[in-house]
Amino acid sequence: MALYVDSPWIEEVEQAVEWGVVEGVTTNPALLAKVETPNNKTLSGLSRALQHKGLVFYQPTAETNEARLQQIHAMNREVGMGLLGVKLPCNPAHLKLAKSLLESNYVVGMTAVFSPGQVALACAVGAQYVLPYVNRSTRLLGDGPELIRQMRTVIDSMGSQTQIIAASIKSPEEAYDTLAAGAHHLTLPFNVLKEMAQHPLTEQAIEDFAKAAKDK
Ligand code: E4P
Repeated sequence: MALYVDSPWIEEVEQAVEWGVVEGVTTNPALLAKVETPNNKTLSGLSRALQHKGLVFYQPTAETNEARLQQIHAMNREVGMGLLGVKLPCNPAHLKLAKSLLESNYVVGMTAVFSPGQVALACAVGAQYVLPYVNRSTRLLGDGPELIRQMRTVIDSMGSQTQIIAASIKSPEEAYDTLAAGAHHLTLPFNVLKEMAQHPLTEQAIEDFAKAAKDK
């Protein structure tokens, strides 16, 4: 199981890497729009923050597959082959693009996934990852973790190597429910990661031990 941080902010990635808890970074167009720097600089900065040891996921936004391919190749030159993951919202045009990217040895994650059927097609095309949106599914469809359970059943029953990186997770509890439902990996906003790293009772215990300790 790997954790990814879902963030366009280099300081957040550096912090998470310092803690030793993340193996990669996911971004999306809305997150990248929150930072001032051009996307290629942001992506190469995120990769540097990962010490070039993990994947940085990028989602192209151009309107045609030809133009998306150009965006992806340009980003790949910035970040480096083997270090760029490509996120493509799961639809027919993007499945077609995924197939050609996979033939060129790109790492591909079909993203914004909301149904087990989409997962079956991502498996069929051979995508390494699917990124279902858990919290959005709970809000819009009813039960995000249950959807993850169904998706995992599809993957396992197809004997597929495709793995779930569950996204759109808003709390430590949701992260736990999602893992228990069968997600292989999680991508988490930094605030959720930070919340998972601490507990008020742990702080209390540290304080109590400090009071009780004797230097000898
Ligand atoms: C994942 O990679 C996405 O960036 C993210 O988790 C989307 O979820 P949200 O917009 O519902 O938070």
